[in-house]
Amino acid sequence: MIGVLKGTGVYIPAHVLNNDDLSKMVETNDEWIRERTGVVTRHVIEDETTVFMAAEAAKAAIADAGIMPQEIDLIIVATISSNVILPCTACEVQKEVGAINAACFDMNAACTGFLFACNTAQAYIQSGMYKCVLIIGAESLSNLVDWTDRGTCILFGDGAGAAIMCAEEEAQYVAVTHSDGIKGSALECESRHRKGWEKKLIGDTTYMRMDGQAVFKFAVKKVPEVIEEVLEKAGVQKVEISYYILHQANKRIVESVAKRLKEPIGKFPMNLYEYGNTSSASIPILLDELKKNGTLKRGQKIVMAGFGAGLSWGAAVLTWE
Ligand code: COA
Repeated sequence: MIGVLKGTGVYIPAHVLNNDDLSKMVETNDEWIRERTGVVTRHVIEDETTVFMAAEAAKAAIADAGIMPQEIDLIIVATISSNVILPCTACEVQKEVGAINAACFDMNAACTGFLFACNTAQAYIQSGMYKCVLIIGAESLSNLVDWTDRGTCILFGDGAGAAIMCAEEEAQYVAVTHSDGIKGSALECESRHRKGWEKKLIGDTTYMRMDGQAVFKFAVKKVPEVIEEVLEKAGVQKVEISYYILHQANKRIVESVAKRLKEPIGKFPMNLYEYGNTSSASIPILLDELKKNGTLKRGQKIVMAGFGAGLSWGAAVLTWE
């Protein structure tokens, strides 16, 4: 059996911060942010939590797939910014959606999280262990961002996206994933837990720190490489690919990947203008948008590709159902 992506759903916080709003918080301006990143607005939580957004996206995906919550036998939530550690976000989602037959766990693969979660679900489905998996990427990055650091706060946004992956007899899903912990210092965020027996509270003084140029160079090199690698592994030609669904980090990264692959930019849909980088949520939010507006059609081959902290990166080629 092979897992195919069926229903999708999202939750996007209503509150919007535009570039002019940020220029009142740090020394920056709309022109610089648009030119260097492509981001125009980002949605950020007010009273919402990661669990709430994940559950809302999940409910929408379950309805879109036309399944009963009881049919779900596994829930994986990819997140780096949950409001809960115990029980895990996936268990909280299970409670909210009534997926009483599901096993649940969370996964941290940063901005590659949704891709790693899809691959994990796929492996379970191919092994025969599970048949119907709810996969969610949900992030409240506004809680991890240093709102005094103009090098990072302009990039990120909050939101959640979900998809149902179900077992089918005939389908294609081929994946490649990589990690490089040696280069992990390019994008870091320390734990906010107490430091052991000293019981010293770190509080909320730990935020995401990033070497932007190092991450940029990593992404524009590794993403085209891993896409070429997965296409070769799948025996699929670039001409057969309808769309490349990339993690939405920066317009210039997406443009550079398209150029290096010698593929038209029209095959690389983007919505980072509106949402910024929502980490593990970016790919499912984009998938949902493309499904709902009719861009994605049954039978099309697509590539999903993610990259981010770890460092981690990967790609999957699949047939859209
Ligand atoms: N507004 C105005 N100026 C800014 C700024 C901002 N928000 N942020 C940085 N600058 C300034 C810098 O201080 C620097 O000034 P200087 O030349 O006087 O020293 C100048 O702009 C250029 O900085 P630089 O860091 O070289 O810019 P950049 O072109 O590399 O763009 C990023 C910065 C962060 C947008 C870019 O590196 C990037 O997108 N990297 C990838 C990050 C990413 O995607 N991370 C998540 C991966 S999942």
